[in-house]
Amino acid sequence: MSRIAYVNGSYMPHREGAVHIEDRGYQFADSVYEVVTVLHGSLIDEEPHLDRLERSLSELDMAWPLHRNAMKVVLRQVVRRNHLKYGIVYFQVTRGVAPRNFEFPANTPSSLVVTAKHIPKLAKPIAPGSKGLSVITLPDIRWKRRDIKTTGLLAGCLAKQKAVEAGVQDAWLVDEAGYVTEGTSNNAWIVTRDGELITRDISNDILNGITRRRILKIAQAQGLKVVERAFTPDEVKQAREAFISSASSFVKPVTEIDGKAIGNAQMGELSEVLLKGMYDFMETPQSE
Ligand code: PDD
Repeated sequence: MSRIAYVNGSYMPHREGAVHIEDRGYQFADSVYEVVTVLHGSLIDEEPHLDRLERSLSELDMAWPLHRNAMKVVLRQVVRRNHLKYGIVYFQVTRGVAPRNFEFPANTPSSLVVTAKHIPKLAKPIAPGSKGLSVITLPDIRWKRRDIKTTGLLAGCLAKQKAVEAGVQDAWLVDEAGYVTEGTSNNAWIVTRDGELITRDISNDILNGITRRRILKIAQAQGLKVVERAFTPDEVKQAREAFISSASSFVKPVTEIDGKAIGNAQMGELSEVLLKGMYDFMETPQSE
C-alpha cells in the first residue's frame, strides 16, 4: 500500500511530496515540528502535542498554517488514508517560501507537511528482561533554545552518528557544567539506588517531552518519588536504572553508558512499571 502525505492543501503519494527550493525550512531550518504516536489508530496525546506546536510557533512568531481544528482534521485524514494503526504522524510547519533573506518575509503563508510511518512493533511493549540501549556521553553543542521543537537538528544528527560509529545506539548530551541535558532525540531519566526517579527540570536547555510529562503523571499516580533536577554521567553510572522517553520509544531502558553497565544491565523494575503505565494510558480511549 502506498503512503500518502499531505503537502500544503493536497493529499498525494508520499514519493511525490516536495517543497519549494526557497522554503525557509529548507534554507534556514526556520520550521517547527511534532511527532505523534498512533496506537490502535488513535493519536496519542494529540492536544498536548498541538499545545507544544502552538508554543513553538509563538516563540518564533510564526503563523499557524491552518486553524487548529482544521489541522486536527488533516492529521486524522493522514491516519485514515494511510490505514495507520501503529506508527507515527510527523507534521512540520515552516515559515513558507520567500527569496532568501535572513529577516522574516512579509505576507508569506506558512507551509504544512504531514506524513505517516508504520511501526508495527509499537503494538506491543518491549519484553521485560530485554537488553537496553548503550549510550555514550558527548558535549551538547546545540543552540540555547532547545525548548522549541525546531527542525534545526544537525547537532543531534552529529551526536547520533558518532554514537553509531562508536557501536552504540545513542548519545546522552552533557552541558558545559557537566550535567546530562537529554538524548539526541529523547529525554533522559535515571532511578537512583534509593528508588528516586530523576529527570532534568524544564528550562530552555531541554525539550519538554510530551512523553516525559505523561510519565511524570503516571509516576505521581503510582506514588513514586520523582525529582526534576539535572544529574551527572557519574550518577548515571551509579544508578539502578536508566531509560529514555519519547513518542514512539515510550520508555526504553538504557543499560550501558560509556562502556559501564547500569544496574543489572537489564530493563529495570521501575522502567517496566512506567512502560506498562504508558500502555495502559495509551490503550484507554482518548478524549478529543
Ligand atoms: N523527538 N528531546 C528531544 C531533543 C527530542 O527531539 C524529543 C522528541 C524528545 C521527546 O519528546 P516527546 O516525548 O514529545 O516525543 C526530547 C522526536 C520523537 C523526533 O525528533 O523524532
